[in-house]
Amino acid sequence: MEKTVIVAGLGLIGGSIAMNIKKNDGFKVIGYDEDRQSLELAYRQGVIDEIASDLFDMLPRADVLFLALPIAPTIKVIEELQNVALHKNLLVTDVSSVKNGVMAEAAELSNEYITFVGGHPMSGSHKNGFTAAKPHLFENAIYVLTPASDNNEGEGVACIKQLLSESKARFITLSPKEHDEMTAVISHFPHLIATSLVHQARKWEDTHPELRNLAAGGFRDITRIASSNPPLWQDIFFQNKHQLLPMLEDWIEEMSQLKRYLEMGSKEETLKYVTEAKVYRDGLPVKEKGAIPAFYDIFVDIYDQPGAIHKVIEILATADINIKNIEILEIREGITGVLRISFPSGREQEESANLLRSKNYEVVIEQ
Ligand SMILES: NC(=O)c1ccc[n+]([C@@H]2O[C@H](COP(=O)([O-])OP(=O)(O)OC[C@H]3O[C@@H](n4cnc5c(N)ncnc54)[C@H](O)[C@@H]3O)[C@@H](O)[C@H]2O)c1
Repeated sequence: MEKTVIVAGLGLIGGSIAMNIKKNDGFKVIGYDEDRQSLELAYRQGVIDEIASDLFDMLPRADVLFLALPIAPTIKVIEELQNVALHKNLLVTDVSSVKNGVMAEAAELSNEYITFVGGHPMSGSHKNGFTAAKPHLFENAIYVLTPASDNNEGEGVACIKQLLSESKARFITLSPKEHDEMTAVISHFPHLIATSLVHQARKWEDTHPELRNLAAGGFRDITRIASSNPPLWQDIFFQNKHQLLPMLEDWIEEMSQLKRYLEMGSKEETLKYVTEAKVYRDGLPVKEKGAIPAFYDIFVDIYDQPGAIHKVIEILATADINIKNIEILEIREGITGVLRISFPSGREQEESANLLRSKNYEVVIEQ
């Protein structure tokens, strides 16, 4: 029998989820969003079968509810689920980037028909909205599930995996606390720091107008994540502030330590500090989609002459290699090569590097 799935929030994540569910037979997908344009576009594209004008009126018909709203409205909907009159089982899951608030609200639910399984697909984009949604968004990405501890959790987890079986996501199960601690370290805190670095540069530009031209290379790389959707990140910072506040304290202490090294001329300690960071960073697994979107880049040294870029592109195009992005880096410091080419996967990255090397180009693969 056909099952009915409601996707509430048809933005980047919800739209991509709906596209994946539609790859399976036997599911009717109903979309709900406060933005009418997104709903109509999704309907016209066949990503949803029906538009819901009111989420709660539609719920008694549903078997599964995906909450792909920002975190604060997700928590509000979970709170209101308590009072919905249901006559059949409803599996509810969410996609929020922070789990503690969502799971605490879900633990309050005593509606006997509802099973709640938290979720977080760890793949995204700096773009938002339905127009940025794509069916392959979760390919090779980790999808964390945080089941509430009740008897139906196994069934709920299996159902979500089945609904998203075409997504090629890699599911793992974590406790909400583990999830929030780890994402704070490797995603939320780096985002906070990247944002502050951009502010620092912005302030220095007042006295150094050329600064934005120098910032075209490495600075752009380490602050790339600061270009993501601001309301989403405001939501994440506040939802995970219990993890972030002590980390900020540690960071401030760490910066004070570095400041002392420089003030006191402690060259050996500084070298040790920089070396230890390099060793740890080099040992991190590469080529996986993680909390911070992965890029598969190569750096190609080219002569500064007309037609040089065209030649490289032609070699790759002839071999039918798909390029995701191409950028000319203005600054060479610390990096060989001025042409950065990004690929959708490690396979294309390696193939391109080998191909260009065989044509005598100097190519560096980013580690
Ligand atoms: N963007 C990412 O990189 C990313 C990655 C993983 C998880 N998430 C999580 O996914 C969720 C959605 O993020 P997104 O990036 O898809 O955002 P988005 O802005 O692309 O989509 C959110 C959608 O929700 C709708 N919406 C917002 N408030 C609403 C409300 N009160 N009622 C009805 N509709 C409402 C918006 O109109 C929009 O279509 C968030 O909880 C976020 O934490 C985001």
